[in-house]
Amino acid sequence: MNYLSHQNPKDFHGKRVLLRLDLNVPLNEAGHVDPSDADRITKSLPTLQWLQEAGAKTIIISHIGRDPKETLRPVARYMETLMTIGFDPELSGERLHEMIHNLGNGHAIMLENLRSNPGEESNDEVFAKSLADMADFYVNDAFAVSHRAHASLVGIPKLLPSFAGLQMEQEIEHLSKSFTPSSPSILVLGGAKFETKLPVISKFLNIVDHIVIGGALANNFYKEMGYEIGASLVDETANISSLLGNEKIIIPKLVIVENDKGHETKNALDVTRSDKIVDIAPEGLDEYAQLFADATFVLWNGPMGNYENGFVDGSKKIINLISSSHAESIVGGGDSVALIEQLDMADKFGFLSTGGGAMLEYLAQGTLPGIEALN
Ligand code: 3PG
Repeated sequence: MNYLSHQNPKDFHGKRVLLRLDLNVPLNEAGHVDPSDADRITKSLPTLQWLQEAGAKTIIISHIGRDPKETLRPVARYMETLMTIGFDPELSGERLHEMIHNLGNGHAIMLENLRSNPGEESNDEVFAKSLADMADFYVNDAFAVSHRAHASLVGIPKLLPSFAGLQMEQEIEHLSKSFTPSSPSILVLGGAKFETKLPVISKFLNIVDHIVIGGALANNFYKEMGYEIGASLVDETANISSLLGNEKIIIPKLVIVENDKGHETKNALDVTRSDKIVDIAPEGLDEYAQLFADATFVLWNGPMGNYENGFVDGSKKIINLISSSHAESIVGGGDSVALIEQLDMADKFGFLSTGGGAMLEYLAQGTLPGIEALN
């Protein structure tokens, strides 16, 4: 792997560098970036500073959202409060080439949402070339989107000398520790979307000592065990029958349900047809406190409850269990990390990944298309 940190900054002086970042952060109701959701932006700054100090002309490229009409302008405005950068609402054209040519050494400019061009997602060679033509070097510091085989991630590195940025290096260095953790080790998995988590469970059953399941994933287990789950969210496509009865897998016994009475804590066995499971009850996790206290390694991805609707008590309990243990800890997934940031507890964790889906795919596969493209 060609890490940027191993390069001589002098070789970047006056060079045009295409820097792929993942600046895909949620915007608040006013359409602005909320500092508590800006983890990915903050973690992009060291690579940007490295390039600025080297005297490179940095061209920042990123996507935002899934709607091609979404603009990166609010992200650029937020970044302008942290460092000097410009914004150009284009991705190609003679005027843009000229502007990049005239960019001062050590200056940076952000271009418009890559997904505004359909060639990004279809990994179109012509689109990749039109971007590569603007630069001398390419740097990928966008771990969180490197599971997508898009033009800016796998097309450009075929055309330019390419490097992994500083955050990408951190992600690889820390997440790869999960493959040989010290024992006793725990994997905590929550959220929904079983198809992204089943490969991680299958692989880590051979790696860690315990797997704690929460979020909508747990509902699938309750259902498979024959429990009533009422109106709770489940992944209908998931087949988890082979996991039932595995002693490493821990399914919490107490849940919080929503029903016509409001919310209540129940034994998962007592859920009725009119209940909807919305969280893991924190007190139900007390029986695993010793497991967490003894653990030397904990890996966590995905909230324990319906995060969007404010059910965060189960996740807060996991945060307390991990932060009060001496275990080396790695956490990923936008919601889990945002909650840790909101509670101002980031310093109690070993490593907070910028990846959600990318982290899961890296854990399942040991690599990602965007990382392979740099090799
Ligand atoms: C993410 O937020 O997980 C990445 O930016 C990838 O976004 P995507 O799921 O829209 O490809």
